[in-house]
Amino acid sequence: FILGIDLGTSAVKVLVCDRHGNIVTHSTKPYELDQSGGVGYSEQNPEHWVHATFDAIKEIVHSGLVKSDSIAGMSFSGMMHTLVLLDKQHNVLRPAILWNDTRNSKQCNDINKIIGSKKFIEITGNKPLEGFTLPKILWVKENQPDIYSRMATFLLPKDYLRFRITGKIGMELSDASGCVMMDMKDHKWSKEILDPLGIDIGICPPLYQSLEDAGPILKEVCEKTGLSINTKVFFGAADNAAAAIGGGAILSPNQALSMIGSSGVVLNHESEFINYNGEIHTFIHAIPNQYYSMGVTLNAGYSLSWLKNILQDPSIVSGPDDIKTLVDIAKNESCVGAKGLLFTPYLNGERTPYTDSQIRASFIGLDSTHKRGDLVRSCLEGIVFSFQDIFEIYNRVKSGSSSIDHVIALGGGSKSDLWMQIQADIFNKPILSLENSQGGPSLGAAMIAAVALQWYPDFEQCSKAFLKFGKSFNPIAENQEKYSKLYQIYRKVYESTKEIC
Ligand code: XUL
Repeated sequence: FILGIDLGTSAVKVLVCDRHGNIVTHSTKPYELDQSGGVGYSEQNPEHWVHATFDAIKEIVHSGLVKSDSIAGMSFSGMMHTLVLLDKQHNVLRPAILWNDTRNSKQCNDINKIIGSKKFIEITGNKPLEGFTLPKILWVKENQPDIYSRMATFLLPKDYLRFRITGKIGMELSDASGCVMMDMKDHKWSKEILDPLGIDIGICPPLYQSLEDAGPILKEVCEKTGLSINTKVFFGAADNAAAAIGGGAILSPNQALSMIGSSGVVLNHESEFINYNGEIHTFIHAIPNQYYSMGVTLNAGYSLSWLKNILQDPSIVSGPDDIKTLVDIAKNESCVGAKGLLFTPYLNGERTPYTDSQIRASFIGLDSTHKRGDLVRSCLEGIVFSFQDIFEIYNRVKSGSSSIDHVIALGGGSKSDLWMQIQADIFNKPILSLENSQGGPSLGAAMIAAVALQWYPDFEQCSKAFLKFGKSFNPIAENQEKYSKLYQIYRKVYESTKEIC
């Protein structure tokens, strides 16, 4: 067996699968998000990640479904960009500042002024955005100089978790590229970026490939969790890189992934580094010498959860089925175009294509006959329109053999036929689901272990063995036509509402 851990924003998911990708057992343990610091603040205590992960592993090991000495290897996936600061003794210096924390707009502007936006993109492949790690480090340097002066190094969430399991400090490349302080061509920390910003390159952790051995597991961790000392530990990948593997993005350059979690991502595999002028993010892949590009909708599933909470409708159950109940309401009470209601999902700003943390969401066209089903349907559609904004960039940049002609759905969007059809109609592309899509990044993490253990010669072979395609949906011409008109209106909302905030 192999074990995959995905350290997400609201919970850790640990799964165990066999050599063929069949998920044998899994466990999810939630933790709190602290947003009490004020607007734009989002923090977590890294100790909670460690406890939740150890609890999940213990549950799995004690379930009797797998024996710990039959787990040959394990690997990791985790939320990106999130800053964990460590002192010389490797103690955590302050709560982690999360990827969805946007307190650092000033530092993003400073980076553009000091380095120049064009040069920054040429070196790092990306714009300096609030979500990314470098502007978070600069925020601490400016606002908490005492903490900054005690910082010996920094890590990202899954690298910190792995450090607590093995005692070895290191950062893996796919996540490190999301810090936006690396040279995307030579895969090293960039002095050209760090020196002018007054950051000592010495604080940057050593870099490793996803497939490298990070073990062995510390004896005390084996005692606490029940893991076997013989289980090999591999470095792992950023959650989006792991999802790209767990979602089969590698199987063809013409397929994109559409992933709806709290945030939403449209992702494409790239066999070389492409400078998208910062319009789309480009990161190093977990697959040696490969890259992936992606656009982000900041509030995808989060918009639906927000709507669920404010509707306070007792018929909407809470828990794993809440999205299903919501989608059923939309299906029964509304229709294509939500009876003239349009939603833009910018509840806490938007990344792609606007990179604007200040913009806010809107319902446009509300009238007194609208019901909750229309609100839900317009929310489902608005999230997909925001994904279409990302596809528009790909459609413009990619042509011929590299153009995207079909989509694989993962996450919330793949769990309902209605939401799948909405995606097919708005993207105007066929969309497929995966039977084992509940794995996502944690399955990708397990696949990293499978390839590192040499169960498969490469990720392509592993994907072919592990991934089982499920239902597919084709665009319906009549719906597609309606949505393409609505999308033109959707496109205008950002410009007309950005001054409100
Ligand atoms: C990617 C990003 C998010 C996090 C969520 O740039 O910020 O997708 O990785 O876990």
